[in-house]
Amino acid sequence: MTTALFTLTAYLIGSISFAVVMSHVFGLSDPRTYGSKNPGATNVLRSGNKKAAIATLIGDGAKGWLAVFLAKMFADRFGLGDMAIALVALAVFLGHLWPVFFRFVGGKGVATALGVLIGLNPWLGLAVLVTWLLVAYFSRYSSLAALFAAVLAPIYYGLLEGADAQFGAVVLMSLLLVFRHLKNISNLIAGTESRIGGKSAPAA
Ligand code: G3P
Repeated sequence: MTTALFTLTAYLIGSISFAVVMSHVFGLSDPRTYGSKNPGATNVLRSGNKKAAIATLIGDGAKGWLAVFLAKMFADRFGLGDMAIALVALAVFLGHLWPVFFRFVGGKGVATALGVLIGLNPWLGLAVLVTWLLVAYFSRYSSLAALFAAVLAPIYYGLLEGADAQFGAVVLMSLLLVFRHLKNISNLIAGTESRIGGKSAPAA
């Protein structure tokens, strides 16, 4: 029962789309109407408003971290084991992808996954962040950086923590993240993917 409550709460937290919220706060168009139409920090950046993009990144990352942090903080008190924490990690990510507050049309989950990974193990989060930054710096493709980070995240987790229940959650998040980037992958292959900071993007 407690596990279900924490999992549901995590899903609801994940369902808050900071791309939509911050765009509203900053008086921008809805990110689901331009660029890649993805409600995420990369697409908000295409509006030209860096502050809104950073606020989106922080908000979407923080919600992933918060859900895992709360589950871990109350783990002893409510008897939440590894499986419960894995479910919470997955639930906040799923909330971002399929948000109940936005007709189940959500984002690709990069920032939220990063927040979750930081919550699970800060070293894991750091390794994934450095991977993302390196690929993004050299390629200027946010999506390519996310794909590299998604492929490497389970390997990093396995090396740091071994194959426990949370490893399963990390693998599932990575698979879903790659799945959400299928359009980006075909754009990358076709050479039509927009680079970081570009103001226009092919419609997803
Ligand atoms: O964070 C999502 C990123 O990897 C790709 O976003 O808008 O270029 O499809 P976008």
